[in-house]
Amino acid sequence: MKYRNFGKLGITGSAFGLGCMRFNGTPSNGVKCDEEKAIALIRQVIDGGVTYIDTAYVYLDKTSETVLGRALQDGYRDRVTIATKMPLNAVNNREDMERLLQEELDKLQTDHIDFYLMHGINRGTWEKFKGIGAPEFFDDMKKAGKIRFKCFSFHGPYDDFEYIIKDSDWDMVQIQYNFMDVNNQAGTKGLELAGSLGIPVVIMEGLLGGRLANAPDNVQALYDAFPVKRSAVEWAFRWLCNHPQVATVLSGCNEPEQVAENLRIFDTVEPGCMSAEELQLMDNVRQAYIDRTKIGCTGCRYCMPCPNHVAIPGVFSIWNNHSLYGGNVKDDWTYRMITNEKDRQTPDLCLECGACEAACPQHLNIIEALKTAWAEIGE
Ligand SMILES: NC(=O)c1ccc[n+]([C@@H]2O[C@H](COP(=O)([O-])OP(=O)(O)OC[C@H]3O[C@@H](n4cnc5c(N)ncnc54)[C@H](OP(=O)(O)O)[C@@H]3O)[C@@H](O)[C@H]2O)c1
Ligand code: SF4
Ligand code: SF4
Repeated sequence: MKYRNFGKLGITGSAFGLGCMRFNGTPSNGVKCDEEKAIALIRQVIDGGVTYIDTAYVYLDKTSETVLGRALQDGYRDRVTIATKMPLNAVNNREDMERLLQEELDKLQTDHIDFYLMHGINRGTWEKFKGIGAPEFFDDMKKAGKIRFKCFSFHGPYDDFEYIIKDSDWDMVQIQYNFMDVNNQAGTKGLELAGSLGIPVVIMEGLLGGRLANAPDNVQALYDAFPVKRSAVEWAFRWLCNHPQVATVLSGCNEPEQVAENLRIFDTVEPGCMSAEELQLMDNVRQAYIDRTKIGCTGCRYCMPCPNHVAIPGVFSIWNNHSLYGGNVKDDWTYRMITNEKDRQTPDLCLECGACEAACPQHLNIIEALKTAWAEIGE
C-alpha cells in the first residue's frame, strides 16, 4: 500500500480508502447491509494496509456506521482514521448537531471521529448551516476532542466549490473526481484550488460508481492497443493517483476479489506515475466514452425513492449499458425487473413532480431523460 500526504494536516493516509456506501452493490434507501460479509471486507482492507475508511449517517439505511463500528472492534479501530458525515437535512439547530454526532459516535463505538464532514453541501446549504452555527459547532467539537478535522463533501458546481472552500478554514474536502469528470462539479479546477490552499482532497466515485470498471468495446480497443497492459480499473485509479493533490481514493468494494485487486493496484501508484503517452491514452479513452454514454448517472440513488416508483437509476443504467454494450435490452435483468407487471417501475409512471431532479447531485434533467430513454429502450 502506498501512503500519501494529507496537505497541510501533516499526516499520511493510505492511497486507497474504503467507502462503506455500497455493500450489497446498492447504496442506501431501504437496502440493509450483509453484515457478516461487510465486516470481513472491512477487515480485509485494513489487514491489507488501508488506513482510511469512509461512511455516513445515512448510508445503507443508516446501518453503515453501525456495521463499521462492529468491524472496528478487536483492535481494528486504532489502525484507521474514520471519516463520517453529518446528515444536514436532519439538522435545524445546535441541539440536533450534538444529538446526531453523539449517535454517530455511539454507532461507531468510538470516542472520536477523525474526519467529520458536512455531507454534500452546496452554496445554499452552506449558508443555511453557517446561519445555525455549524462551523462553530465543528470547531467546538475539535477542541473537545470529539472530531479531529472539519471537512465537507461536495457534488455542486465549481463556483459553489470555490466559494465554500475559501469561506472557512477547512481541513479536508471530498469531491467526485475521475478521468470523466475533469470539467464536472469541482473538477480539475477544484482539485487544483484545494491543493493550492494546502487542503487535502479525498476522491469519491473514482470509478463513476463502477461504470469505469467495465470498458465498452471502443474503449477496450484503445487499452488493448497500448503497449502496457492494465485493467480498466487500474488505469482509472492510476490516473487519479497521478495527481499530487489527491490524498486518498475511496472505492466502495463489494467483493473480496475487488478488494484484493485494489490493494494490488494501490501498491503501485503515486504522484507523477503516468507518462505523457499514458495521459494521452486516457484523453482518448475519455473521448471514446463521451462518444457512447447516454447520460452521466452514477447510480448514487440520491433521487430515490421516487414517489411513483420509477426506477430512475435502473432506467438510466439500462439505457447507458445498451448504448455501451449493445445486445437485446430485454435480456437485461434490471429491464425485466422494472417491467414486471406486479411491481412496475417504468418511466411512463412519472408524474413529473421534480423531486428527483432537486436531489440529483449530477444535476441531470431526469424527467426529459426518462422520456428519451424510454422512447429508445422501452417496450
Ligand atoms: N459524500 C457523498 O456525497 C458521497 C457520494 C458518493 C460516494 N461517497 C463515498 O465515496 C465512496 C466511493 O464512491 P463509490 O463507491 O462510488 O466508488 P467507485 O469506486 O466509483 O465505485 C465503486 C464500485 O466500483 C466497482 N469496483 C470497485 N473496485 C473494483 C474492482 N477492483 N474491479 C471491478 N469493479 C470494482 C464496484 O462496482 P460493482 O458493485 O458493480 O461491482 C463498486 O461498487 C462511497 O462508498 C462513499 O463512501 C460519498
Ligand atoms: S419527477 Fe417523475 S421520476 Fe422524478 S420523482 Fe417525480 S415521479 Fe419520480
Ligand atoms: S439520476 Fe442523479 S440522483 Fe439519481 S442515481 Fe442518477 S446520478 Fe444519482
